[in-house]
Amino acid sequence: MGLATNEASLGLLQVVIQHPMNGAASTPAEASPGWCEVCLKDMQTLVALEEHRRGKKHLRKAVGDRKARLIHERVQALSESERHNVLRGERSLLGIATRLRRGGQRVVVLLGAGVSTSAGIPDYRGGSGVYSTAAGRGAFSSGGFKADPAAFWALIRQTCSPLRRVEPTVTHRFLTTLHRRGLLQRVYTQNVDGLERAAGVPDDKLVCCHGSLGSARCSSCGAAADAAEGFSMRAGAPCCVACGQAVRPDIVFFDEPLPQRFHELKGADLAACTLLVVAGTSLSVYPFAGLLDECSLTTPRLLINREASGPFLRPDAAAHAYRDVLWLGECDAGVSCLARILGWEEGAEEE
Ligand code: OAD
Repeated sequence: MGLATNEASLGLLQVVIQHPMNGAASTPAEASPGWCEVCLKDMQTLVALEEHRRGKKHLRKAVGDRKARLIHERVQALSESERHNVLRGERSLLGIATRLRRGGQRVVVLLGAGVSTSAGIPDYRGGSGVYSTAAGRGAFSSGGFKADPAAFWALIRQTCSPLRRVEPTVTHRFLTTLHRRGLLQRVYTQNVDGLERAAGVPDDKLVCCHGSLGSARCSSCGAAADAAEGFSMRAGAPCCVACGQAVRPDIVFFDEPLPQRFHELKGADLAACTLLVVAGTSLSVYPFAGLLDECSLTTPRLLINREASGPFLRPDAAAHAYRDVLWLGECDAGVSCLARILGWEEGAEEE
């Protein structure tokens, strides 16, 4: 049994129990209790499991400590030359560009809300982000939606309605450059705005980890519904034609499991990955943020973001010092800079 945690800015920790083989998730109430492989705690009863779930501090520390220890041990086992070869000592966009030019690269890209702010869509945890208001903080859980579906739709209409005809950004368009050059293994996005697809990333190259606003279903009977209706209404929530209950977009709320596709693809993708590019994310939501630790220790990782996040908060820690590149600033500027070094500016001929 593995535990996947979602740590919202609200300070809540929700636990989803995942089947160890197929990643199928269920809530603690539905799961058959057992052992927590993270802290080796026996949870043979649902009461114990529930207590464990509430012990978020313990769990957070146990997960972090255990992961850090394992990574440290594995890094120590690498030889000096193995470490040096990752970026050949060039921990900068130049080192990343050199890697991309080596040929045969399999790039996995991890995206967050920061790649869409230049298109006019707010992020979540920024100063004017979705979570800067109490309404925003409450909206993205199934409980919050159930309590006030109209408020949820009002918020989503205001922030990222597809009817506003938002255009993909330079960063989104760079994904298609990687794809056209045969370098893209997969894009894992936390964003629900559909801008990767709008930029031309084919569906098979895309994993929408937190779902998408492009489709909708009834929150009660699950019947498929018209996603556009909710965005075209002036107020209120759309209702299911079958049972009359509120319709919700196909996005992942905080207490819900990620799509099966995420679990099916991530193992092979991260094993194949020879360069990990991360952009526009606070890396505070799991299991998405855990993807960073799933690639090989000889795979370089680049974060382009306004601020350091996740493992890039300690870029000089021994476990990261040979392979992590932190580029601080706007996503579009960072991506443009990388494209310029490579001679891949927009409109440039592709070999
Ligand atoms: P956050 O709002 O947590 O983080 C966005 C990050 O992008 C922050 O570190 C910002 O500083 C940075 N940023 C914003 N605009 C930027 C720009 N133009 N250039 C560079 N950096 C920029 O958003 P996510 O990490 O995507 O989940 O949040 C993850 C998940 O939390 C979301 O998918 C959502 C939310 O709860 C669900 O709804 C399930």
